[in-house]
Amino acid sequence: MKLQLLSDLHLETETFDPLPAPGADLLVLAGDIDATWAGYERFADWPVPVLVVAGNHEFDGREWHEAWPAFRRRCDALGLRLLEREACVVTAADGQRVRFLGTVRWSDFDVLGPARHERALRAAAYFQREMAATIDGAPFDAQQVRQQAQACRAWLEQALHEPAAGAWDATVAVTHFAPSLRSADPRFGPQPSTASFCNADDDLIPLADLWLHGHLHCRHDYTVQRPGGGHTRIVSQARGLADKGEAHGHEPVRLITVPSGD
Ligand SMILES: [Fe+2]
Ligand SMILES: [Fe+2]
Repeated sequence: MKLQLLSDLHLETETFDPLPAPGADLLVLAGDIDATWAGYERFADWPVPVLVVAGNHEFDGREWHEAWPAFRRRCDALGLRLLEREACVVTAADGQRVRFLGTVRWSDFDVLGPARHERALRAAAYFQREMAATIDGAPFDAQQVRQQAQACRAWLEQALHEPAAGAWDATVAVTHFAPSLRSADPRFGPQPSTASFCNADDDLIPLADLWLHGHLHCRHDYTVQRPGGGHTRIVSQARGLADKGEAHGHEPVRLITVPSGD
C-alpha cells in the first residue's frame, strides 16, 4: 500500500493547495490541517480514501466535549474517516490489508524523565494558555492534556499488542504527537518545551510496521531496529509555517510504502 501523508498545513493562516499524489492508495491527514476546520472541505471527493487524525490545533478555543462530536460530524459529512483511539483495516489494490491505529496521543510530559517533568509541565502551560480550550468549562491545562495523553497511550499500547490472527498484514500507527525524542525539532533540541511535542513511546514503536506523525514543524524519516529483527519506519511530513521557512523542502506528494509486515 502506498500512502500520501499531510499534516500541519495550518490552513487557518497558510496558503497551500493540497493535490492528490499519483499512485497513492490512501491519504493520511495527521492533524493541524485547519484550526477552523473549513480547510477539510478540500479533501471531500478526494480520489482515494482519507483517514484523519486530529491535531491539537483542531481544538483551539473549543470545548472538548462539544468539539469531538462536532469534528466527527464534520469529517463524516465530507466523507473522511476520523480515527481517535480507533482502528480500521484498509485493503490495498494489491490485496495488502493494513491496520491503521489513530489517535492524537497528546503529551504526557514524561519524555525528559522524572527530574524534568515539572519543568516540562510549566513549559506546557504557555501552549495551553495559547490554545484556550476548555474541558467541562475549565481550562484544558497541562494536567488535562496529560490525562488525555495517558488514555491515548493506554489504548495504543493495548491495540499494538493485539495479535493479527490473520486479520491484517501490517500495522500503521498514526499520531499527531511524535513517539520519540528522535523526532524532536533540531532547531530546539530536548528543552522542556520539547515534552509538549514528543512522547517516550519508543517501547511501542517496534510493535508497528510504520509510524506516521506530525506536530513538529520539520520532516523526519528514520528507522528503529526491532529486538526480534527487522525495523519500524517513522515518518513525519509536516509542512509548517512558510514565513518561518518551515515549508521549505516539503514534499506533499511523496509516497510512503507500507512495509509487508513480516
Ligand atoms: Fe502544527
Ligand atoms: Fe500540532
